[in-house]
Amino acid sequence: MAPSSWTIHNPAGSRRVVVTKELPGEGWLRILTDADCRVEVSDSKAILAPDALAEAIGDHCDAVVGQLTEAWRAGLLEKLKAAGGRVYSNYAVGYNNVDVGAATAFGVPVGTTPGVLTETTAELALALTFAAARRIAEGDAFMREGRFAHCGWLPTLFLGKLLWRKTLGVVGAGRIGATYARMMVEGHKMDLVYHDPDSNEALEAYVRDYGAFLEAHGKPAVTCRRAQSLDELLAAADVVSVHTVLDESTHHLFGARQFATMKSDAIFVNSSRGPLHDEHALVEHCRAHPGFYAALDVFEDEPRTQPGLSDLPNVVMVPHLGSATGWTRRGMAVLAARNAVAMLDGLPVWNRPDVLVFLADDAPAAAPSIINADDLGLPLYQDATEERS
Ligand code: DGY
Repeated sequence: MAPSSWTIHNPAGSRRVVVTKELPGEGWLRILTDADCRVEVSDSKAILAPDALAEAIGDHCDAVVGQLTEAWRAGLLEKLKAAGGRVYSNYAVGYNNVDVGAATAFGVPVGTTPGVLTETTAELALALTFAAARRIAEGDAFMREGRFAHCGWLPTLFLGKLLWRKTLGVVGAGRIGATYARMMVEGHKMDLVYHDPDSNEALEAYVRDYGAFLEAHGKPAVTCRRAQSLDELLAAADVVSVHTVLDESTHHLFGARQFATMKSDAIFVNSSRGPLHDEHALVEHCRAHPGFYAALDVFEDEPRTQPGLSDLPNVVMVPHLGSATGWTRRGMAVLAARNAVAMLDGLPVWNRPDVLVFLADDAPAAAPSIINADDLGLPLYQDATEERS
């Protein structure tokens, strides 16, 4: 592959920041150049391999803004540290592509971009859910092939599944999972069963209050319960949507046995990380159960898909678009730039849910989200401001 070319902004800047992909919007670049950074941006659309990233770091690099598609393992993080790197800022909320333990061992803070993609990703999960339930991709292909013109409207054409008042299973009820759950419960009056190591009391209260509201208007309530086990959820749900983090404990959380435990006409949605599902097992299961649907935004061996997946009519898939709205991707870029600059400036860490304050020009003097802040002993914004007052 030809070496990637790089665009250099503010060449006289005193701090060298490597950005491994072009990012949307202009705010992120202004934040970096206003902070006296020389910003080198890769023009390559290809995933940069570790040797290309190592070459980009070179002998001197103060910060990297990198991508979820890149493997930031110990060797690269060590190289970054040796080059004077003071932060690795991931352009994503997920960070399974980063060896955070190694980064901590080398004293490198790892930034992430939470908050700005919560609703956006939940909406994509919802869109995928209904694309599967209502067979949107099959219908679209049918239209483009000119086949509708031959048969016209038919009582039996592409019959799908009605989700109204059915049971929704959400695996991982954190920010995105809970937001998706609320959209589905409120919009489609689904009963919720969720599985998470921690109970989400705010979500439970939300569904309870919404159920009471429905009853007050003469309608049946909706319910919410936390499943004792994943199997309990799988057996009960008409839709199973995955929103948990990927780590060693969740790798292949969904395999042949879990798919077999689900209803034979259930919908499986994954908009989190591909290796949460065993894709070969999923292909086999979808092949054997034509009424079972999979709706995928992420893939086990991304960007490749398992053989057979794209031949299955009961699979709908998109190329990791969860956060792909202009507002969100521009916001992620701003957060990633602010994480980098804050660490270069020795500022404290915010690490609070209300991250959207960092999209404003008068953002707090802090890093929005540094995942290993505690382990590195970095001061939190609140502590730092209290100390000063
Ligand atoms: C993330 O940020 O982790 C998403 O997967 C990218 O949109």
